Amino acid sequence: MANPAPAISLAEFAARRARLLAQLKRDGNAIGLILAGDADASLSHSWRPNPNFEYLTGITDEASAILLLDPAHPVKSKRVQLFLRPLNPELEKWDGFRAQVSTALKGQYGIATILRNTGFARALLESAKRAKRFACLHALAAHTAPISADLAIFRESALRIPGATITDLTHLLPAMRSVKSAAEIAQMQRAADITALGFAAALRAARPGQTEFDVQEAVEHAYKSAGARETAYRTIAGSGFNATVLHYHANKNPIAAGELLVLDSGASFAGYAADVTRTFAVAGRFTARQQLVYSTVLKAQLAAIKACRVGATMNDVDSAARKVITAAGFGDYFIHGIGHHLGLEVHDADPATPLQAGMVITVEPGIYIPQESLGVRIEDDILVTRGAPKVLTAAIPK
Ligand code: GLY
Ligand code: MN
Repeated sequence: MANPAPAISLAEFAARRARLLAQLKRDGNAIGLILAGDADASLSHSWRPNPNFEYLTGITDEASAILLLDPAHPVKSKRVQLFLRPLNPELEKWDGFRAQVSTALKGQYGIATILRNTGFARALLESAKRAKRFACLHALAAHTAPISADLAIFRESALRIPGATITDLTHLLPAMRSVKSAAEIAQMQRAADITALGFAAALRAARPGQTEFDVQEAVEHAYKSAGARETAYRTIAGSGFNATVLHYHANKNPIAAGELLVLDSGASFAGYAADVTRTFAVAGRFTARQQLVYSTVLKAQLAAIKACRVGATMNDVDSAARKVITAAGFGDYFIHGIGHHLGLEVHDADPATPLQAGMVITVEPGIYIPQESLGVRIEDDILVTRGAPKVLTAAIPK
């Protein structure tokens, strides 16, 4: 595809960090830590950093990196410090070349202070002794899950620093990440446009005698041919009964004439996700029953899209769809929520606030009737604006 959207600029990443620093400053000069997370040794899937780290740095190939934010550091250039894993020439023969810390690397990342992880403990202690306040920025975990990495470090530090407190600022990054900039919207539009090419290819592949996997292959091949490196999530291609299984991933059955096929798939571009669902009649023609269910879901979806206005809540959007489906007598068959925020993650950081201009959400009502092997879901990606909602995935027919 021609005219790739311009990449997000270093200045934009720097502005995001500055905004976060200002908010930490407002909260008693709390120190924040953003951990990229460790790579696993898997050969079977690619590694991505924690999305908060990616959002604040744009760096996607430095496992174990740490961003230390200290809004009151007396040396201005040390208010943001980036720590990177030390070089290891032996390991790099396997995993790829990594650069020395140099002026060039600082310029490449737009970060003035870059150090090795070996210096992190000392730098954190220096900041913590002065600030005596830590801010949890990564999402809190359920009591059955491991403690988030930033909280674990803060707890260990607080044990050693009398009077140090830990504060919950987990709402800051979802609030920032959920309102997309013009540059982010451009990436998301491109992910949506690539996804449209995939769905066109999938529609051609979804013929009787083919398998669900053939459809998955067609959609994903088209993404990659159009410049996407990854899918945004595992493609769901379910026909007949499988169309009623919300997160069906086996994608292995033959598809037969007379069935409906639910295809839920999206390309990832520059880290940003598209998330689209279409439901096709395999042999090109709906039965009257399929038609009734399909048109109910479509009506519900259009009503919900209309509700994607500044100030509305996700609950308002959900109600708009649910009202239509319930009125048609299918209320018990719409068994999930209306959608979710979309961005660097397919289920993106959720600010749990009313919609604002610049937010991108999915709207994906469905009706699933397993006893009839009949499932329909229709999903689009919606940009909330000050005016009418903009459907980023409008090029995909429904
Ligand atoms: N696309 C899968 C989901 O939104 O759950
Ligand atoms: Mn979705």
